[in-house]
Amino acid sequence: MLSEAAANEIKEIRKRYATARSCIMPCLYVVQREYGYITEEGMREIAKILGVQPVLVFEVSTFYTMYNKKPVGKYHVQVCTNISCSILDGEHIVDVISRKLGIKVKETTPDKKFTLSTVECLGSCGTAPMMQINDKYYENLNDAKVEDILNGLR
Ligand code: FES
Repeated sequence: MLSEAAANEIKEIRKRYATARSCIMPCLYVVQREYGYITEEGMREIAKILGVQPVLVFEVSTFYTMYNKKPVGKYHVQVCTNISCSILDGEHIVDVISRKLGIKVKETTPDKKFTLSTVECLGSCGTAPMMQINDKYYENLNDAKVEDILNGLR
């Protein structure tokens, strides 16, 4: 069950939007922060608070990749493999991280510290190749940079 603070935050978010449907995305972030990922219970709680059908919340959460459908590690490493990043060897960056962490895409390290994902464009094409770890962007990546970044998080 959502904490009282999280439920109140969703109610406050609702006040800033013209319709309940239009505020589902920020409400999903509240649930993700609360549970660590988007749970079915969390989606039902959003629907109940907003007074909408649960399917409206489900469809938004499943459309966007930034909502985690299952638990992720302490550090969620999301590497962009869309066109600009791909042209500048984004897939190689994925391989470097995969080797360094010993996991494949969509896997989490046994110590639950890192989850590796590939994602669509993160809107930072001018600094490709890039990745996002939790809420922070890391840009103009190369092997050495990736190594330093991951070592700094260990
Ligand atoms: S293609 Fe990677 S940030 Fe846009």
